[in-house]
Formats: sequence, C-alpha cells, structure tokens
Amino acid sequence: MTQRTALVTGGTGGIGTAIVRYLARQGHRVATNYRDPARADAWRAAIAQEGIEVAMVQGDVSDPASCEAMVRELESKLGAVEILVNNAGITRDTTFHKMSYQQWTDVVNTNLNACFNVTRPVIDGMRGRKWGRIVQISSINGQKGQYGQANYAAAKAGMHGFTISLAQENAKFGITVNTVSPGYVATDMVMAVPEEVREKIVAQIPVGRLGKPEEIAHAVAFLTGEEAAWITGTNLAINGGHYMGW
Ligand code: CAA
Repeated sequence: MTQRTALVTGGTGGIGTAIVRYLARQGHRVATNYRDPARADAWRAAIAQEGIEVAMVQGDVSDPASCEAMVRELESKLGAVEILVNNAGITRDTTFHKMSYQQWTDVVNTNLNACFNVTRPVIDGMRGRKWGRIVQISSINGQKGQYGQANYAAAKAGMHGFTISLAQENAKFGITVNTVSPGYVATDMVMAVPEEVREKIVAQIPVGRLGKPEEIAHAVAFLTGEEAAWITGTNLAINGGHYMGW
C-alpha cells in the first residue's frame, strides 16, 4: 500500500482514537491536534504502548488562524496532508427554547466552521498533487434531527452540504470527499447522555447495541483507501439500523 500522511482532528476522543489507530496500523503517518497539553501527553503515552506513534500539534479547530498554524507545523514534521478526517466535535445538548447563543455558536464553530478552518489550508496542496481524501465525521442526528440537539443537528447536517460541494469542485483533482454519519457509539460523548434517555435510544437500534468506535474507523479507512477513488460525495450511515435513509 502507499503510505500517506493523515490528519485526524480530535484524534484523542472516542471515535478519533479508533480512527488514528486504524490508519496508523494500515501504515500511514498519522497526526492529530490537541488543546490541553497534559491530556495530550497522557493520550500519546497510552497509544505509544500499542506501538503507535502519532504526531501531535496544538490547535483549536474552531479558530482559523490556529488551524493554519497547526497545518503548517504538521507539514514541517510529517509532510503534506494527503488524508484529512474532520472528526473533532462537541455537544451542548438542550432544548432550543433554553439554548443560549454561546451553546449554539460553540457547537457550530467546533463542528461545522472547523471544516472550513482545517480544510482550507490543505486543499491547495491536495489539488496541486492531484490526490486527496477528505472525510467529514457527521452524525445520525444530522440526518434525522434529535430532541435537544438543534445546534448539533444543524452543524452536522451542514457538514454534508460541505462534503457534496467540495466533492464536485475537487473530483477532477483526484480528491474524494465523503461523509460518515455514525449513530450512537459507545464513547464518553454518548455515555454523557442521561442513562434513562440513553436506554430509550438504544431500544430504538435494530442491531440492539451501541456501536463500537472501530466500526466507524473501519469505514473511514475504506473511504480513504486508494481503491475508493470512485466513491465521492456519499454519506455513509453507520448506525446499527437506527436510521435508514435511501
Ligand atoms: N421526544 C419527545 N419528547 C421528548 C424527547 C423526545 N425524544 N426527549 C425528551 N422529551 C420530553 C420529555 O419526555 C419531557 O417531557 P415532559 O416535560 O412532558 O415530562 C421533556 O421532553 C423534557 O424536556 P426539557 O426541556 O425539560 O428537557 P431536559 O432539560 O430534561 O433535557 C435533553 C432534555 C437535554 C434533550 C435530554 O433529554 C437529553 O440529553 N437527550 C439526549 C440528547 C441526545 O441524544 N444527545 C446525543 C448526544 S451523543 C451525540 O450527539 C453523538 C451522536 O452524534 C449520536
């Protein structure tokens, strides 16, 4: 296989860690960003125990200047970014009539505006080299909406609008752009949902359980592979049958 340089934003999170691990085990050079140095050091030490070395750069995906600096630093360490996974995301769940402007903008900035902030500094290089793979990690709730997530669902739905526009603009440059929409996966983010609410959600999943982070990582590896050159602009739902669009 061809070894590539991959940037996975939010790589220290639940799904992010699984994606980093999967791409690294495939032989790619993998990088992620972090905000809190102490947390980053602990995470790096843990993943190093598995024999995986990850380049880590400080950067806040909600801040355009920080992302530009982060990408340039990463390029000087590992080389140009060839695979980008826009994975970093947060929740600020509350019903809309109680939602503050801060809760709205925090989620839109980190989940959606980050796609601009991180992709903009890498796109020219991908176009110049005529090869690239970009994957947005969206959510089932961007597809179906969710009680208590007007901010999150709006941002996650926006990510796929971004995907299908970029896919059209960059197809002739050998760049594919796709979305993966995970359902409820066993991560800290989902475990933070109150237990009684979570139990009702799990009861709606035909497969009968939460997803595993590796089940999302597997799809990202597939979409970022050399052989996936003809798959672009798609939104791959991975949700145990919880929501079946067509
Ligand atoms: N449909 C209809 N009614 C619902 C409902 C639903 N899905 N969920 C809650 N309600 C109702 C309750 O039954 C209750 O009704 P009564 O007042 O008549 O008893 C009412 O809404 C409660 O409303 P409140 O505004 O008082 O809500 P709250 O402050 O107690 O909390 C909430 C609401 C924050 C939305 C909470 O229910 C919650 O956390 N829900 C889970 C949201 C969720 O799924 N988040 C996903 C996080 S993980 C993630 O985002 C990853 C991913 O991509 C999948």
